[in-house]
Amino acid sequence: MEILGVDIGGSGVKGAPVELDAGELAGERMRIATPEPSTPENVLAAVAKIVDHFSWDGPIGCGFPGVVRGGRVLTAANLDRSWLGTDLRDALATATACPATVLNDADAAGLAEIRYGAGRGRRGVVLMLTFGTGIGSALFIDGRLVPNTEFGHLEVRGKTAEARASDRVREERELTWKKWAERIDELLVRLNLHLWPDLVILGGGVSKKHDRFIPLLTTPIEIVPAELRNQAGIVGAALAARDLSEL
Ligand code: BGC
Repeated sequence: MEILGVDIGGSGVKGAPVELDAGELAGERMRIATPEPSTPENVLAAVAKIVDHFSWDGPIGCGFPGVVRGGRVLTAANLDRSWLGTDLRDALATATACPATVLNDADAAGLAEIRYGAGRGRRGVVLMLTFGTGIGSALFIDGRLVPNTEFGHLEVRGKTAEARASDRVREERELTWKKWAERIDELLVRLNLHLWPDLVILGGGVSKKHDRFIPLLTTPIEIVPAELRNQAGIVGAALAARDLSEL
């Protein structure tokens, strides 16, 4: 079965049909730079272009970089503020004429890793963290998602964790891998104090360079790189449309 997965991000809007038996993209993904200003109108036009590109007329699963509850956007730290309160599910259905399931982007990525990737078959408390424009989180208990955790907004040294340790901050501040790993460590220490996760999966595009920073982390938590890398968000959004359409 194929469903179109879309991943709305702070720097790119990406999508591709996903083959859900294998958990793989069924074709080359399409990426459009996130429009400026990143208003609902502009971003939805980008999603509509992706839908057109694949001549898609079936269900869509869409990840969004903020808290999404009952189809509605409640936070949008890295997109235009006019998103707040938008009914994304309705707006997508109007913009694309396709039925849509919407959820937080990190939750989508986590679902994909738990189903097909680094968290496959793992029980207990599993936490996925995604490093990109922001830091996203997805929390699982025995494989079941606790939606909309926002651990990237924990306060570390007087700032949000994502303002110190996102991949964007690493690039913009030209942090060495060692410096960046120290900042991730600070977040992990905090998370370990409060959650005691059995496993933490580190994802986002930068996870393909995991050998540069994961070995530098010093926390005692078991830490593994995401296996689906940057595609987890697309794959997980499609998966949610099949399995969690009541979200
Ligand atoms: C948002 C999260 C999102 C993360 C990654 C954060 O700023 O608050 O909801 O998952 O960025 O996009």
